[in-house]
Amino acid sequence: MRILSGIQPSGKLHIGNYFGMMKPAINMQDDSDVFLFIADYHALTTTHDAKILKDLINDAVLDFLACGINPDKTFFYKQSDVPQVHELAWLLSTITPIGLLERCHSFKDKTAKGISASHALFSYPVLMASDILSISANVIPVGRDQKQHVEVTRDIAERFNNHFGEVFTIPEPSIKESVSVVPGIDGQKMSKSYNNTIDIFDSGKSLRKRVMKIITDSKELDDPKDPDKCNIFSLFKLFSDSNEQQELADSYRAGGMGYGHAKTKLYEKIENYYAPIREKRNELIKNTDLVEDILNDGAKKASSITKDVLQRARLAVGLE
Ligand code: ADP
Ligand code: TRP
Repeated sequence: MRILSGIQPSGKLHIGNYFGMMKPAINMQDDSDVFLFIADYHALTTTHDAKILKDLINDAVLDFLACGINPDKTFFYKQSDVPQVHELAWLLSTITPIGLLERCHSFKDKTAKGISASHALFSYPVLMASDILSISANVIPVGRDQKQHVEVTRDIAERFNNHFGEVFTIPEPSIKESVSVVPGIDGQKMSKSYNNTIDIFDSGKSLRKRVMKIITDSKELDDPKDPDKCNIFSLFKLFSDSNEQQELADSYRAGGMGYGHAKTKLYEKIENYYAPIREKRNELIKNTDLVEDILNDGAKKASSITKDVLQRARLAVGLE
């Protein structure tokens, strides 16, 4: 089985990215072929500053490595280092109906937030389809917001296969329900664009301050509380075992447990959970050649597959 996922280097990594996409992919690397890439072409739809983009790419690579991507097991590369992805995207775009792209929520959401409605932003799902199909990936671990893009990929692959013959593997999204939508400090989906994130490399006073900002209802200390309707509890569940969850849920229901106290417990959990990851990142950053070496190696390995898939697609459409 071949697993693939990607992330845009577009800002600081948060708890939603970590549990929705990174951890599931990292957990798969012992038993399957995992391909992970930094979606830098995609990031160009929103970042038009060379220095900023370069730093974001470098940071994203370090973040992934610190979180547990093992480049000896996982094919870890940068999208723009594998040019076949782009050539294949063009072939795919020639059989992609405009209507399919017009239905994508992500384009509407992003333009509604003021991101310029460029051609690249609109055709982004075709490039994403190419990321997936060029590697012949079977399983795509993502958060729920990316499900529609994987469905678009399936649709494009089926159209191509029906018309030109079997070239592409049809992928499936893998969405872990318990973490499919990690809530932000305001209760909406945690997202960089909503300014409601808790970043995984935040720590100390600044992390505590962020956790204390989590929005709750206005119940008093002694009031019984419903854990299932509380953002603090939803986040606490990600970092605790079932006994700890039960204990906190019981204290909520009994009354006498204030939200401030629950936030302190959550803060401590987050601080401790990510401490070794932060330490590892501080070590990795000292080795200045590391990022380049790992990406070069990953791109070589990924290209050996994408070249073959592209060759078959070129042959199918009549370019060979
Ligand atoms: P953001 O919404 O912060 O811009 P991205 O779109 O860069 O995040 O998402 C990168 C990956 O992390 C995707 O696979 C996405 O589905 C996942 N992800 C992002 N936010 C969440 C969340 N709140 N819950 C679960 N998964 C998420
Ligand atoms: N669109 C994804 C996001 O914004 C990133 C991405 C690009 C991706 N290509 C992909 C994810 C292929 C999975 C597979 O988060």
